[in-house]
Amino acid sequence: MELIKYVRDLNTMEELFPAIHRYALENRVPVIDSDALNVVKQYIQIKGAKNILEIGTAIGYSALHFASAADGVHVTTIEKDEASHNLAKDNINAAGFSNKITAILADAKEVDLKDGRFDFLFIDASKGNNQLFFDKYKEYLTDDALIIVDNIFVRGLITDDNVENRNKRKLRDKVRNFNQAMKDSEYSTSFLNVGDGLLVIY
Ligand SMILES: C[S@@+](CC[C@H](N)C(=O)[O-])C[C@H]1O[C@@H](n2cnc3c(N)ncnc32)[C@H](O)[C@@H]1O
Repeated sequence: MELIKYVRDLNTMEELFPAIHRYALENRVPVIDSDALNVVKQYIQIKGAKNILEIGTAIGYSALHFASAADGVHVTTIEKDEASHNLAKDNINAAGFSNKITAILADAKEVDLKDGRFDFLFIDASKGNNQLFFDKYKEYLTDDALIIVDNIFVRGLITDDNVENRNKRKLRDKVRNFNQAMKDSEYSTSFLNVGDGLLVIY
């Protein structure tokens, strides 16, 4: 058995929201990989995070999982696409999580959260804007907050030196620059080869 599959199978937990996960797969909604999800949920548990901010709701799949990771967790999640946001709201209500998840319809590049101190930030929106999201939202974090960025390998693009498409090359370079900037920063970082790559920043 292939090692990656072996580890993935070990990491993958019983699906708590099978209908939403199925919908995502069938409709090509890009939701977090199951093995990466397991890792992020464990970080939430270890950290004892209570107030999570997520950039990129899609249909609410990861937000529902994060809110289920431990007692007393509240998730605020931002999505700019109205149809996805509405579907997320429906999924959150149907799962009985409306008191645990606040879904905001807005462009995360522009939104002003006014107040709120978050002890956990999950960045999972437009990958070329990771640096912008990081700079903007670190202002809303507690001093000991944990930040996790998903898809830092951009589905293999990150190590491809022969990308022909100009936009893809630009995206690759932006994510490379962000990853390197985080590595060179004052923060403690780890780059995890799980799912499509997770960057953990403390
Ligand atoms: C990878 S999906 C999120 C998946 C979700 N976190 C999950 O795992 O279930 C990325 C989402 O970010 C949204 N998005 C992209 N740019 C955004 C922005 N500037 N502000 C808010 N949402 C954005 C997209 O519309 C898309 O639904």
